[in-house]
Amino acid sequence: MRFEIGLVAALAMLVGCSGGEEAKTGTTGSETPSTEKALVVFSQANSQDPWRKVFDAETKAAAAKHQKHFEFDMQDAAGDPGKQNNIVDTFIVKQPKVLLISPTDDGVKPSVEKAFDAGIPVILLDRDFKGSDKFTAYIGGDNKDIGRQAGEYVAKRLNGKGTVLMIQGIAQIGPTIDRRGGFMEVMAKHPGITVIEGDDCGYQRQKARSYMETFLQKGQKIDCVYGHNDEMAIGARLAWDAANPSGGAAPIFVGIDACQQEVVDLIKSGKLDATFKYPTPGAAGVELAAKIIKGEKPTEKRMILPTEIVTKETADAYMTANPNLAK
Ligand code: FRU
Repeated sequence: MRFEIGLVAALAMLVGCSGGEEAKTGTTGSETPSTEKALVVFSQANSQDPWRKVFDAETKAAAAKHQKHFEFDMQDAAGDPGKQNNIVDTFIVKQPKVLLISPTDDGVKPSVEKAFDAGIPVILLDRDFKGSDKFTAYIGGDNKDIGRQAGEYVAKRLNGKGTVLMIQGIAQIGPTIDRRGGFMEVMAKHPGITVIEGDDCGYQRQKARSYMETFLQKGQKIDCVYGHNDEMAIGARLAWDAANPSGGAAPIFVGIDACQQEVVDLIKSGKLDATFKYPTPGAAGVELAAKIIKGEKPTEKRMILPTEIVTKETADAYMTANPNLAK
């Protein structure tokens, strides 16, 4: 996988990093790692859904390549901000050289800011905190741009007329705000399209399926379902199929992530129309952690990974170029 990240060449003559320098010497902490190897920790928001399974696998594979340079400890918060705060607090005691974290939501800001204030370089992955700059670097996709691209695709497919049901991700987190915001920006230029702002379905297939079941019972005509991720677009499509056993003209279905084989198969069979790649940031996070340990500083505070649209026309090429899709 290619990441478009510009990083400074290794100019630093001194080995040292921007935080957590006291970790190896003069510490009184009883939980200092027993080996002299540096420690890199990673707190994952949840390890259950397909996108995060790919994310975890890529992160672990990248860390394994650096096992000579640092130990790697990864913990799953199971979607619970309280649990994630505890995980980060426990990590802080271990004085890691870098904290990688993909936050569940803004509820984990306190422990992340505590880590940053303690001098530990913090790399935020995928979700950031609106209005806080207590982090060393952010790596993720440009959700506003993805929302805009989804809007352009939908406007074109609907010829500027129709009704869109937008099924939303976890309220108040960066990706949801931006996937909605970018999309609505484009919709504002298309007065012939009405957007129904659907519920927060937590980025989960089952929640979106139940929501769509109830929505369809109202009998309102819709021309498009825009899910803030593929899992929700699939859930909505399953509900549509169950409510329309003899087929008939279906709305178009658009999602985001493009990380699983099932989605590509559904696009090929015409059940979903398009998705947008939301690149997983774990491998880039580990590489940046390795550089920080060597004494380099990130050149950019925000490192944006590229997206691309996947449709029936591009599905085969996408599969060839992305052999690690979740099965
Ligand atoms: C996985 C996920 C992805 C989505 C991302 C947004 O937990 O919901 O489907 O793209 O998180 O933060």
